[in-house]
Amino acid sequence: MNNDSGWVYTEQVKQHFLNPKNILTISEEEYKPDGVGIVGSPACGDMMMIFIKVKDERIYDMKWKTYGCASAIASTSALSEMVTKNGGMHIKEAYKITPEDIIKELGQLPSHKIHCSVLGDKALRAAIEDYFKRRNEQNPYREKTSSPIVCECFQITEEDIKMEVLEGATNFETLQERTKIGTNCGKCIPKAKEVINKFVEQYYKDKVYNPKS
Ligand code: FES
Repeated sequence: MNNDSGWVYTEQVKQHFLNPKNILTISEEEYKPDGVGIVGSPACGDMMMIFIKVKDERIYDMKWKTYGCASAIASTSALSEMVTKNGGMHIKEAYKITPEDIIKELGQLPSHKIHCSVLGDKALRAAIEDYFKRRNEQNPYREKTSSPIVCECFQITEEDIKMEVLEGATNFETLQERTKIGTNCGKCIPKAKEVINKFVEQYYKDKVYNPKS
């Protein structure tokens, strides 16, 4: 489908939506995952659950369930294939998967659907954290961010703002509501506005977000 309304889905999105891969069809107890990640809430209409099986630090199997929309279904189906192909992705690499990586796999997504692709990579990171927690180990692949701090009072980085934008905060007021940025000393407000505008321009300037363009 291709028209001017922004509802532009690629063949990959359609195929993953119509024939989603790796949905969990048995109970969690039967599946016996090594790690489980849950993000969102059914009350908000968006919820993603990811279940992983790990051997030699490779995710050799991944299953998922969601109450999300068509884009969330397509994104997570594509993510499950990315993670499990060729014997399974190493946990270190899987932990670094970004929404852009998933959208690249799908070709592109309508800009107003970008936030749907964020659920999958967040839930996957939560599942990896759970894997280490179940083993009573620290996750050695959780890197300290090197992203510059924008708000000293609340320790909010550029990367944090980018993630909020990807999750649908497309103006400063929404960002502030979600993070409290700028509500203490207020010194960071001009910089925060500059940073959010940069990311909004990057992800939402066109009706369709294509990471390759
Ligand atoms: S630096 Fe952001 S509120 Fe103080």
